[in-house]
Amino acid sequence: MYELLKTEGTARRAQFHTVHGTVQTPAFMNVGTSAAIKGGISSYDLVDLKCQVELCNTYHLHVRPGDELIYRRGGLHRFMGWERPILTDSGGFQVFSLAKLRKIKEEGVTFHSHVDGRKIFMSPEVSMQIQSHLGSTIAMAFDECVENPAPYAYSKASCERTTRWLARCKAEMDRLNSLPETINPHQMLFGINQGCTFDDLRIEHMKAIRELDLDGYAIGGLAVGEPKEEMYHIIEVVEPYMPKDKIRYLMGVGTPGNIIEAVARGVDLFDCVMPSRNARHGHLNTWQGIINLNNAKYAEDDRPIDETCDCPTCRHHSRAYIRHLLKANEMLGMRLAVMHNLYFYNTLMERIREALDEGRFAQFRAQYADLLD
Ligand code: GUN
Ligand code: ZN
Repeated sequence: MYELLKTEGTARRAQFHTVHGTVQTPAFMNVGTSAAIKGGISSYDLVDLKCQVELCNTYHLHVRPGDELIYRRGGLHRFMGWERPILTDSGGFQVFSLAKLRKIKEEGVTFHSHVDGRKIFMSPEVSMQIQSHLGSTIAMAFDECVENPAPYAYSKASCERTTRWLARCKAEMDRLNSLPETINPHQMLFGINQGCTFDDLRIEHMKAIRELDLDGYAIGGLAVGEPKEEMYHIIEVVEPYMPKDKIRYLMGVGTPGNIIEAVARGVDLFDCVMPSRNARHGHLNTWQGIINLNNAKYAEDDRPIDETCDCPTCRHHSRAYIRHLLKANEMLGMRLAVMHNLYFYNTLMERIREALDEGRFAQFRAQYADLLD
Protein backbone atom coordinates (compact mmCIF):
# COMPACT_ATOMS: atom_id res chain seq x y z
CA MET A 1 0.00 0.00 0.00
CA TYR A 2 1.34 3.37 -1.11
CA GLU A 3 1.13 6.19 1.43
CA LEU A 4 1.99 9.60 0.04
CA LEU A 5 3.62 11.84 2.68
CA LYS A 6 4.68 14.96 0.81
CA THR A 7 5.18 16.40 -2.67
CA GLU A 8 7.42 19.10 -4.12
CA GLY A 9 6.37 19.86 -7.69
CA THR A 10 5.98 16.43 -9.30
CA ALA A 11 8.45 14.80 -6.85
CA ARG A 12 6.94 12.50 -4.21
CA ARG A 13 8.00 11.42 -0.72
CA ALA A 14 6.09 8.32 0.41
CA GLN A 15 6.05 5.02 2.29
CA PHE A 16 5.31 1.71 0.64
CA HIS A 17 3.86 -0.87 3.04
CA THR A 18 4.44 -4.58 2.33
CA VAL A 19 4.16 -7.85 4.25
CA HIS A 20 7.98 -7.75 4.55
CA GLY A 21 8.07 -4.25 6.02
CA THR A 22 7.80 -0.61 4.96
CA VAL A 23 9.96 0.94 2.23
CA GLN A 24 10.75 4.63 2.50
CA THR A 25 10.60 6.17 -0.98
CA PRO A 26 12.19 7.40 -3.18
CA ALA A 27 14.26 4.20 -2.88
CA PHE A 28 16.97 2.33 -4.78
CA MET A 29 16.79 -1.47 -4.99
CA ASN A 30 20.10 -3.31 -4.78
CA VAL A 31 20.55 -5.85 -7.59
CA GLY A 32 21.19 -9.47 -6.60
CA THR A 33 20.39 -11.14 -9.92
CA SER A 34 21.07 -14.78 -8.95
CA ALA A 35 20.17 -14.34 -5.26
CA ALA A 36 23.53 -12.67 -4.57
CA ILE A 37 24.93 -9.16 -4.93
CA LYS A 38 28.01 -9.51 -7.12
CA GLY A 39 31.25 -8.77 -5.29
CA GLY A 40 30.70 -11.04 -2.30
CA ILE A 41 28.04 -9.07 -0.42
CA SER A 42 25.83 -11.10 1.94
CA SER A 43 22.35 -10.35 3.21
CA TYR A 44 23.74 -9.27 6.60
CA ASP A 45 26.08 -6.80 4.84
CA LEU A 46 23.06 -5.30 3.05
CA VAL A 47 21.57 -4.22 6.38
CA ASP A 48 24.78 -2.23 7.15
CA LEU A 49 24.61 -0.78 3.64
CA LYS A 50 21.11 0.67 4.29
CA CYS A 51 19.55 -1.50 1.57
CA GLN A 52 15.74 -1.52 1.77
CA VAL A 53 14.82 -3.81 -1.13
CA GLU A 54 16.79 -6.49 -2.96
CA LEU A 55 16.02 -7.27 -6.61
CA CYS A 56 16.39 -10.81 -7.98
CA ASN A 57 15.73 -12.33 -11.36
CA THR A 58 13.08 -14.87 -12.33
CA TYR A 59 14.98 -15.98 -15.43
CA HIS A 60 18.33 -16.61 -13.69
CA LEU A 61 16.82 -18.39 -10.68
CA HIS A 62 14.60 -20.55 -12.92
CA VAL A 63 17.67 -21.64 -14.93
CA ARG A 64 19.81 -22.17 -11.81
CA PRO A 65 19.18 -23.51 -9.14
CA GLY A 66 15.50 -23.81 -10.24
CA ASP A 67 12.50 -22.18 -8.60
CA GLU A 68 11.16 -25.54 -7.35
CA LEU A 69 14.34 -26.05 -5.33
CA ILE A 70 13.92 -22.57 -3.80
CA TYR A 71 10.23 -23.31 -3.11
CA ARG A 72 11.26 -26.46 -1.24
CA ARG A 73 13.71 -24.32 0.80
CA GLY A 74 10.75 -22.18 1.91
CA GLY A 75 11.16 -19.40 -0.68
CA LEU A 76 13.73 -16.79 -1.59
CA HIS A 77 13.64 -14.86 1.71
CA ARG A 78 14.52 -17.94 3.71
CA PHE A 79 16.97 -19.25 1.07
CA MET A 80 18.97 -15.97 1.05
CA GLY A 81 18.56 -15.05 4.71
CA TRP A 82 16.96 -11.70 3.82
CA GLU A 83 13.81 -10.62 5.65
CA ARG A 84 13.09 -7.27 4.00
CA PRO A 85 11.21 -6.81 0.71
CA ILE A 86 12.37 -8.58 -2.47
CA LEU A 87 11.28 -7.60 -5.97
CA THR A 88 11.65 -10.20 -8.70
CA ASP A 89 11.88 -9.12 -12.33
CA SER A 90 9.73 -11.28 -14.56
CA GLY A 91 12.27 -12.69 -16.98
CA GLY A 92 10.73 -10.60 -19.76
CA PHE A 93 13.81 -8.42 -20.08
CA GLN A 94 16.37 -11.25 -19.75
CA VAL A 95 14.60 -13.45 -22.30
CA PHE A 96 15.17 -10.65 -24.79
CA SER A 97 18.66 -9.59 -23.70
CA LEU A 98 20.35 -12.92 -22.78
CA ALA A 99 18.58 -15.93 -24.25
CA LYS A 100 19.51 -17.34 -27.63
CA LEU A 101 17.27 -18.46 -30.50
CA ARG A 102 14.06 -17.07 -29.07
CA LYS A 103 10.68 -17.40 -30.72
CA ILE A 104 7.84 -15.08 -29.63
CA LYS A 105 4.23 -16.14 -29.97
CA GLU A 106 0.97 -15.00 -28.39
CA GLU A 107 1.18 -17.88 -25.92
CA GLY A 108 4.73 -17.01 -24.76
CA VAL A 109 8.41 -17.20 -25.65
CA THR A 110 10.55 -20.25 -26.41
CA PHE A 111 14.30 -19.82 -26.07
CA HIS A 112 17.53 -21.54 -25.14
CA SER A 113 19.18 -21.05 -21.75
CA HIS A 114 22.36 -18.93 -21.73
CA VAL A 115 23.87 -21.42 -19.21
CA ASP A 116 23.41 -24.85 -20.81
CA GLY A 117 21.48 -24.26 -24.04
CA ARG A 118 18.44 -26.15 -22.70
CA LYS A 119 15.11 -25.24 -24.33
CA ILE A 120 12.83 -23.21 -22.04
CA PHE A 121 9.28 -21.88 -22.46
CA MET A 122 8.19 -18.75 -20.63
CA SER A 123 4.78 -17.11 -20.66
CA PRO A 124 2.80 -14.80 -18.39
CA GLU A 125 1.51 -17.85 -16.49
CA VAL A 126 4.93 -19.56 -16.23
CA SER A 127 6.59 -16.32 -15.04
CA MET A 128 3.91 -15.86 -12.33
CA GLN A 129 4.29 -19.51 -11.27
CA ILE A 130 8.08 -19.13 -10.93
CA GLN A 131 7.75 -15.85 -9.01
CA SER A 132 5.12 -17.41 -6.77
CA HIS A 133 7.53 -20.28 -6.01
CA LEU A 134 10.19 -17.70 -5.12
CA GLY A 135 7.65 -15.97 -2.86
CA SER A 136 9.01 -12.48 -3.55
CA THR A 137 7.27 -9.43 -2.08
CA ILE A 138 6.68 -7.95 -5.53
CA ALA A 139 6.38 -9.82 -8.83
CA MET A 140 6.86 -8.01 -12.13
CA ALA A 141 4.61 -8.59 -15.13
CA PHE A 142 5.94 -10.64 -18.04
CA ASP A 143 6.56 -8.11 -20.81
CA GLU A 144 8.45 -7.66 -24.03
CA CYS A 145 11.17 -5.02 -23.83
CA VAL A 146 11.50 -3.89 -27.46
CA GLU A 147 14.98 -2.88 -28.60
CA ASN A 148 15.63 0.77 -29.38
CA PRO A 149 15.19 2.00 -32.04
CA ALA A 150 12.29 -0.15 -33.25
CA PRO A 151 9.81 0.36 -36.12
CA TYR A 152 6.47 1.90 -35.11
CA ALA A 153 4.36 -1.01 -36.37
CA TYR A 154 6.35 -3.61 -34.46
CA SER A 155 6.36 -1.47 -31.27
CA LYS A 156 2.58 -1.06 -31.46
CA ALA A 157 1.88 -4.77 -31.99
CA SER A 158 4.32 -5.71 -29.20
CA CYS A 159 2.74 -3.21 -26.79
CA GLU A 160 -0.73 -4.58 -27.43
CA ARG A 161 0.52 -8.13 -26.79
CA THR A 162 2.22 -6.97 -23.57
CA THR A 163 -1.19 -5.57 -22.48
CA ARG A 164 -2.87 -8.94 -23.17
CA TRP A 165 -0.02 -10.68 -21.32
CA LEU A 166 -0.58 -8.38 -18.33
CA ALA A 167 -4.24 -9.42 -18.01
CA ARG A 168 -3.05 -13.05 -18.03
CA CYS A 169 -0.40 -12.25 -15.39
CA LYS A 170 -3.04 -10.74 -13.12
CA ALA A 171 -5.46 -13.64 -13.49
CA GLU A 172 -2.69 -16.16 -12.79
CA MET A 173 -1.31 -14.21 -9.82
CA ASP A 174 -4.80 -14.00 -8.27
CA ARG A 175 -5.19 -17.77 -8.70
CA LEU A 176 -1.73 -18.54 -7.23
CA ASN A 177 -2.23 -16.20 -4.25
CA SER A 178 -5.39 -18.11 -3.28
CA LEU A 179 -3.73 -21.56 -3.22
CA PRO A 180 -3.16 -22.96 0.31
CA GLU A 181 0.48 -23.97 -0.39
CA THR A 182 1.55 -20.51 -1.62
CA ILE A 183 4.61 -19.08 0.19
CA ASN A 184 3.50 -15.43 -0.01
CA PRO A 185 -0.29 -15.19 -0.51
CA HIS A 186 0.04 -11.37 -0.46
CA GLN A 187 2.46 -11.24 -3.40
CA MET A 188 2.02 -7.97 -5.26
CA LEU A 189 2.05 -7.48 -9.03
CA PHE A 190 3.44 -4.43 -10.87
CA GLY A 191 2.58 -3.68 -14.50
CA ILE A 192 5.23 -2.39 -16.94
CA ASN A 193 4.68 0.44 -19.40
CA GLN A 194 6.25 -0.08 -22.83
CA GLY A 195 5.97 1.75 -26.16
CA CYS A 196 9.57 2.39 -27.18
CA THR A 197 10.16 6.10 -27.89
CA PHE A 198 6.70 6.78 -29.33
CA ASP A 199 4.68 9.20 -27.18
CA ASP A 200 1.27 8.00 -28.40
CA LEU A 201 2.11 4.30 -27.81
CA ARG A 202 3.44 5.07 -24.32
CA ILE A 203 0.24 6.97 -23.39
CA GLU A 204 -2.07 4.41 -25.00
CA HIS A 205 -0.32 1.56 -23.16
CA MET A 206 -0.32 3.37 -19.81
CA LYS A 207 -4.07 4.06 -20.11
CA ALA A 208 -4.70 0.38 -20.90
CA ILE A 209 -2.67 -1.05 -18.02
CA ARG A 210 -3.89 1.37 -15.35
CA GLU A 211 -7.35 -0.16 -15.85
CA LEU A 212 -6.10 -3.37 -14.21
CA ASP A 213 -5.66 -1.64 -10.83
CA LEU A 214 -2.29 -3.22 -9.97
CA ASP A 215 -0.13 -2.69 -6.86
CA GLY A 216 2.40 -0.54 -8.74
CA TYR A 217 3.43 0.66 -12.18
CA ALA A 218 6.85 0.51 -13.81
CA ILE A 219 8.25 2.30 -16.84
CA GLY A 220 10.27 -0.23 -18.84
CA GLY A 221 12.12 -0.19 -22.13
CA LEU A 222 14.26 2.82 -21.15
CA ALA A 223 18.00 3.17 -20.46
CA VAL A 224 18.58 0.94 -23.48
CA GLY A 225 20.95 3.29 -25.28
CA GLU A 226 18.72 6.32 -25.92
CA PRO A 227 20.00 9.81 -24.94
CA LYS A 228 19.00 10.79 -21.39
CA GLU A 229 16.91 13.72 -22.69
CA GLU A 230 14.75 11.20 -24.54
CA MET A 231 14.35 9.13 -21.37
CA TYR A 232 13.32 12.23 -19.35
CA HIS A 233 10.88 13.15 -22.12
CA ILE A 234 9.17 9.71 -22.00
CA ILE A 235 8.81 9.94 -18.20
CA GLU A 236 7.20 13.39 -18.58
CA VAL A 237 4.85 12.06 -21.27
CA VAL A 238 3.52 9.04 -19.31
CA GLU A 239 3.61 10.48 -15.77
CA PRO A 240 0.27 12.32 -16.02
CA TYR A 241 -1.40 8.98 -16.92
CA MET A 242 0.12 7.02 -14.02
CA PRO A 243 -2.16 6.53 -10.99
CA LYS A 244 -1.34 9.07 -8.24
CA ASP A 245 -2.04 6.57 -5.47
CA LYS A 246 0.33 3.83 -6.69
CA ILE A 247 4.09 3.42 -6.49
CA ARG A 248 6.08 4.16 -9.69
CA TYR A 249 9.24 2.32 -10.67
CA LEU A 250 11.75 3.29 -13.40
CA MET A 251 13.48 0.06 -14.44
CA GLY A 252 17.25 -0.13 -14.89
CA VAL A 253 18.10 3.52 -14.08
CA GLY A 254 20.76 4.82 -13.60
CA THR A 255 23.42 7.39 -12.65
CA PRO A 256 22.84 9.45 -9.47
CA GLY A 257 22.04 12.39 -11.78
CA ASN A 258 19.47 10.30 -13.71
CA ILE A 259 17.82 9.26 -10.43
CA ILE A 260 17.56 12.85 -9.14
CA GLU A 261 16.02 13.96 -12.47
CA ALA A 262 13.55 11.04 -12.48
CA VAL A 263 12.52 11.75 -8.85
CA ALA A 264 11.86 15.34 -9.95
CA ARG A 265 9.54 13.87 -12.62
CA GLY A 266 7.54 11.75 -10.14
CA VAL A 267 9.35 8.38 -9.89
CA ASP A 268 9.57 6.51 -6.53
CA LEU A 269 11.62 3.38 -7.15
CA PHE A 270 14.81 2.47 -9.02
CA ASP A 271 17.24 -0.36 -9.68
CA CYS A 272 20.47 -0.54 -11.62
CA VAL A 273 23.57 -2.73 -11.93
CA MET A 274 25.66 0.42 -12.39
CA PRO A 275 26.95 0.92 -8.81
CA SER A 276 28.08 -2.70 -8.39
CA ARG A 277 29.41 -3.04 -11.94
CA ASN A 278 31.28 0.28 -11.74
CA ALA A 279 32.76 -0.69 -8.37
CA ARG A 280 34.12 -3.96 -9.75
CA HIS A 281 35.95 -1.93 -12.41
CA GLY A 282 37.41 0.50 -9.88
CA HIS A 283 34.95 3.32 -10.64
CA LEU A 284 33.81 4.69 -7.28
CA ASN A 285 31.05 7.21 -6.55
CA THR A 286 31.89 10.31 -4.50
CA TRP A 287 29.90 13.45 -3.73
CA GLN A 288 32.22 15.20 -6.20
CA GLY A 289 31.62 12.69 -9.01
CA ILE A 290 33.17 9.34 -9.99
CA ILE A 291 36.84 8.61 -9.30
CA ASN A 292 38.74 5.88 -11.18
CA LEU A 293 41.02 3.98 -8.80
CA ASN A 294 42.94 2.53 -11.76
CA ASN A 295 44.46 5.99 -12.15
CA ALA A 296 48.13 6.00 -10.95
CA LYS A 297 47.54 9.17 -8.93
CA TYR A 298 45.72 7.12 -6.27
CA ALA A 299 48.62 4.69 -5.66
CA GLU A 300 49.75 6.52 -2.52
CA ASP A 301 46.51 8.26 -1.59
CA ASP A 302 45.77 7.59 2.09
CA ARG A 303 42.30 9.21 2.03
CA PRO A 304 39.09 7.16 2.05
CA ILE A 305 37.17 6.87 -1.26
CA ASP A 306 34.96 9.76 -0.12
CA GLU A 307 36.05 11.86 2.84
CA THR A 308 32.46 12.46 3.97
CA CYS A 309 31.36 8.79 3.64
CA ASP A 310 30.84 6.64 6.73
CA CYS A 311 30.37 3.30 4.97
CA PRO A 312 32.25 0.24 6.32
CA THR A 313 34.89 0.63 3.59
CA CYS A 314 35.56 4.34 4.12
CA ARG A 315 35.68 3.93 7.90
CA HIS A 316 38.58 1.47 7.64
CA HIS A 317 40.45 1.67 4.34
CA SER A 318 42.30 4.01 1.98
CA ARG A 319 42.16 4.56 -1.77
CA ALA A 320 45.76 3.26 -1.99
CA TYR A 321 44.84 -0.01 -0.28
CA ILE A 322 41.67 -0.65 -2.33
CA ARG A 323 43.54 0.22 -5.55
CA HIS A 324 46.21 -2.34 -4.61
CA LEU A 325 43.60 -5.03 -3.87
CA LEU A 326 41.83 -4.45 -7.19
CA LYS A 327 45.14 -4.53 -9.12
CA ALA A 328 46.19 -7.74 -7.32
CA ASN A 329 42.80 -9.27 -8.09
CA GLU A 330 42.12 -9.88 -4.40
CA MET A 331 38.44 -10.68 -3.76
CA LEU A 332 38.45 -8.16 -0.93
CA GLY A 333 39.06 -5.31 -3.38
CA MET A 334 35.76 -5.87 -5.20
CA ARG A 335 33.90 -6.44 -1.96
CA LEU A 336 35.08 -3.16 -0.40
CA ALA A 337 34.46 -1.22 -3.62
CA VAL A 338 30.92 -2.61 -4.10
CA MET A 339 30.06 -1.96 -0.45
CA HIS A 340 31.02 1.69 -0.84
CA ASN A 341 29.07 2.25 -4.08
CA LEU A 342 25.89 0.58 -2.79
CA TYR A 343 26.13 2.58 0.43
CA PHE A 344 26.58 5.71 -1.70
CA TYR A 345 23.40 4.99 -3.70
CA ASN A 346 21.36 4.12 -0.60
CA THR A 347 22.65 7.32 1.07
CA LEU A 348 21.82 9.33 -2.05
CA MET A 349 18.20 8.15 -1.72
CA GLU A 350 18.20 8.97 2.00
CA ARG A 351 19.40 12.52 1.21
CA ILE A 352 16.76 12.88 -1.51
CA ARG A 353 14.10 11.85 1.05
CA GLU A 354 15.46 14.29 3.65
CA ALA A 355 15.46 17.09 1.07
CA LEU A 356 11.82 16.30 0.20
CA ASP A 357 10.88 16.09 3.89
CA GLU A 358 12.35 19.54 4.45
CA GLY A 359 10.97 21.09 1.24
CA ARG A 360 14.41 21.73 -0.29
CA PHE A 361 14.54 19.12 -3.06
CA ALA A 362 14.81 21.80 -5.78
CA GLN A 363 17.95 23.09 -4.08
CA PHE A 364 19.35 19.54 -3.74
CA ARG A 365 18.67 18.91 -7.42
CA ALA A 366 20.40 22.14 -8.46
CA GLN A 367 23.43 21.21 -6.35
CA TYR A 368 23.86 17.57 -7.42
CA ALA A 369 21.98 16.57 -10.60
CA ASP A 370 24.67 17.77 -13.02
CA LEU A 371 27.61 17.13 -10.69
CA LEU A 372 26.68 13.44 -10.26
CA ASP A 373 25.50 12.86 -13.83
N1 GUN B 1 14.65 -4.04 -16.70
C1 GUN B 1 15.01 -2.91 -17.35
N2 GUN B 1 14.09 -2.61 -18.31
C2 GUN B 1 13.14 -3.57 -18.25
C3 GUN B 1 11.93 -3.81 -18.99
O1 GUN B 1 11.56 -3.08 -19.91
N3 GUN B 1 11.19 -4.91 -18.63
C4 GUN B 1 11.59 -5.76 -17.63
N4 GUN B 1 10.84 -6.82 -17.34
N5 GUN B 1 12.72 -5.55 -16.93
C5 GUN B 1 13.48 -4.47 -17.23
ZN1 ZN C 1 32.34 4.82 1.55
